[in-house]
Amino acid sequence: MDQSTPPGRAKQSFGKVYLIGAGPGDPDLLTVKAARLLRECDVVVFDRLVSSAIMDLVPAGISRIYAGKALNRHHLPQDEINALLVSLASSGRTVVRLKGGDPFVFGRGSEEALTLADIGIPFEIVPGITAASGCSAYSGIPLTHRGLATSVRYVTGHFRAGEEDMEHNWANLADPDTTLVFYMGLTNLENIADGLITHGLPGTTPAAAIQNGTTAGQRSVRGTLETLPDLVRDAGLRAPAVLIIGKVVALAENLAWFTPEAARADSDWTESGIGAGTGEGEKASDDAHDIQGFNSATG
Ligand SMILES: C[S@@+](CC[C@H](N)C(=O)[O-])C[C@H]1O[C@@H](n2cnc3c(N)ncnc32)[C@H](O)[C@@H]1O
Repeated sequence: MDQSTPPGRAKQSFGKVYLIGAGPGDPDLLTVKAARLLRECDVVVFDRLVSSAIMDLVPAGISRIYAGKALNRHHLPQDEINALLVSLASSGRTVVRLKGGDPFVFGRGSEEALTLADIGIPFEIVPGITAASGCSAYSGIPLTHRGLATSVRYVTGHFRAGEEDMEHNWANLADPDTTLVFYMGLTNLENIADGLITHGLPGTTPAAAIQNGTTAGQRSVRGTLETLPDLVRDAGLRAPAVLIIGKVVALAENLAWFTPEAARADSDWTESGIGAGTGEGEKASDDAHDIQGFNSATG
């Protein structure tokens, strides 16, 4: 008999939760393990940044729960998502918690894992290709390159102008030998460019913004720290987008290989089909809260 179970009480048997990174959008970038678990689980709880093409891989008959938006609210709050995972696992189900990119990069996957760990629910983390890697590869911008960048930093661009922490960070970030990748930085692009230039990064430093990276809807602009805000505005780039700043950006001149037009011809991607069903694809001012280019339908 299991000594840890008090007499008269059945030991609760939990289902397992797999916290899985879905990558940046292209379904071919899903890991083999992720694709297998999507076929084998009982339920998929998915985020707004998981592309429809990836959700199309989930077999009919497996339940889908959209955690990106609750009825009449913008987001299902994090504690409700945590509670949902606990409740599904408590009923013995095998749960896939599917997140855009990598669950441990600006994905709050660790918060969900901590909740599960606290309760003793078994879980596994399945890494995914994070937006920085996907956008780097699909726009021909290496994140490091001998002689151009000796390090790379992933930075959140989701901050308020003048915030004390960010003020302290600028001097540290303004390193000409480091490639900076800002997630959720589109809204703050002007502040980011200002902060870096003020703290010593030349205004001529190459810089790019990539929207919907790795998908048939990928759009990007390249310029310099000084010119990028205007270029982004003129091109009407919207979230989700990453900013890549550093000398490596200039290599895209020779290395950009991906043509979204060709990818569009090979897929059923349409501008209006993106974010279908919620109208949220139009709401793109704040990329922390935006789903342009991504699945938002409750399955
Ligand atoms: C909450 S973070 C999630 C990051 C995710 N966990 C990852 O590893 O990529 C959301 C931000 O990731 C970036 N992002 C995610 N997918 C993207 C894509 N396909 N193209 C460009 N940026 C993307 C955008 O900056 C977006 O605002």
